Amino acid sequence: MTTSTLQNLDNFSGTIIIPVFETYEKSIIPITFDGLEIPAKVFFGKKDTHYLAEQNNSIYLFVGLGKTIDYKSLKTVFRSISAKQKEKLSTNVALVLAENLNENQVEAMLSGLFLGTYDLGHFKLDKKTHPFLEPDFNLKLFSEKDFLAAAKKGIKIAKAQLETYNLVDLPPNIVNPKYLAKWAQDKGKKYGFEVEVLNFEAAKIAKLGAFLAVGKGSENEPQFVIMTYTPKENITNLKHIGLVGKGITFDTGGLNIKTAGMLHMKCDMAGGAAVFGAMQLIADLQLPVKVTAIVPCAENSVDAKSFLPSDVIHSYSGHSIEIIDTDAEGRLILADGLSYLITNYKPEYIVDIATLTGSSVGTFGYECGALFTNNEEISKKLQLSGDAIGERLWPLPLWDAYKSDIESDIADVKNYSGKPVAGAISAAKFLEYFTQEHKAWAHLDIAGVAFGDDEFAKSKHATAYGVHLLTKFIENL
Ligand code: BES
Ligand code: MG
Ligand code: ZN
Repeated sequence: MTTSTLQNLDNFSGTIIIPVFETYEKSIIPITFDGLEIPAKVFFGKKDTHYLAEQNNSIYLFVGLGKTIDYKSLKTVFRSISAKQKEKLSTNVALVLAENLNENQVEAMLSGLFLGTYDLGHFKLDKKTHPFLEPDFNLKLFSEKDFLAAAKKGIKIAKAQLETYNLVDLPPNIVNPKYLAKWAQDKGKKYGFEVEVLNFEAAKIAKLGAFLAVGKGSENEPQFVIMTYTPKENITNLKHIGLVGKGITFDTGGLNIKTAGMLHMKCDMAGGAAVFGAMQLIADLQLPVKVTAIVPCAENSVDAKSFLPSDVIHSYSGHSIEIIDTDAEGRLILADGLSYLITNYKPEYIVDIATLTGSSVGTFGYECGALFTNNEEISKKLQLSGDAIGERLWPLPLWDAYKSDIESDIADVKNYSGKPVAGAISAAKFLEYFTQEHKAWAHLDIAGVAFGDDEFAKSKHATAYGVHLLTKFIENL
């Protein structure tokens, strides 16, 4: 990618993308560009419109942005260009950036352009590559202002999100716990973070009993993935953030087998995939922070070896757990993830992220994730970070009034209240039990936002919710 001033556009041939804000009420003044004049009645920058022209072997694509546009909408407009106008794009692309744009907008545009290369047809025989992914692909920015850093950042964000799309959308007979562990090891080498993987035997020696109870009914061996990122330069007062992501590669429900919605349960590792994507991005951006991330990866399967409803298991924390429902498995692996993180690494801030409950979907639908925390600072920073990029969060309470939901007669705690109410809250209370009263912990229930419908495919697919949110939150700390 290179930058150049507008004067140099004369020597360019290929696809020229020109974002245009809607400036004129009832436009009478036509937009002119590079000798082209667009009839004002045909195009004046209205959102979701575009205008195509051809001149000197180049295609000019004018893209309407409306009067103002938020980060996520802008990203979607640009994702649409590269996903839906594929045949109009060449491997030579010029992006014309007016001076009134800001860096966040340029970041969103570039992220969108690269996300538009995503093709869900992973297993199709006739899968064609996108022109932007061809080896001779060449992108030039034409602007009077230096937007190169913002553009490069936008591409790094998209690259991490594309990885998360793949991890979530690929089927569970490919993306099993070992696949995720290998992904982490490969990306750790490539981007610069340390990876340690505890297999079944190592997890048994470590006494990760809640994690192992969930994974033991599967042919696919569970893997407890630990990642550590430290910046290359020496920095004093380095902040240390801990992340934990739910990595259930498929959730059948276990012996409390699901009756509805099982089809979509390859998405049950989307919290883990968000943590994986965030680790890639944090390392790629060389953020000046220390991050320790844990993704317990397991498949919740049905088998003679599966754990049973009414089993009492022993978690890493030493606390016993009565299993009321084997479908409440996410909180079990997160409990061990949180305990292991806090006991061994003592991070200052902790965020866990998980497709944890149907109840959070019932509460918020598909518009935002549920946020649980008792810490004002991280609550604000998480919400603001999410608002800025269109990955919204909204709070739910952690009041002790809900504590009785997880009190067990036989064990220290139980994994489900058995009642069909306040499911997201009692799940959060269960996790809180394993946080050793940590003063800066937040839990994000993303069951409604990790996997969804949009204009880019016929079926539900990954959104990569959390990759940018976690990274931006960490940047804002
Ligand atoms: N993985 C599910 C939650 C989920 C639901 C994720 C919808 C994505 C979309 C979780 O493990 C689960 O099964 N939760 C149960 C808990 C219940 C048995 C206490 C639920 O929410 O019904
Ligand atoms: Mg479940
Ligand atoms: Zn689950």
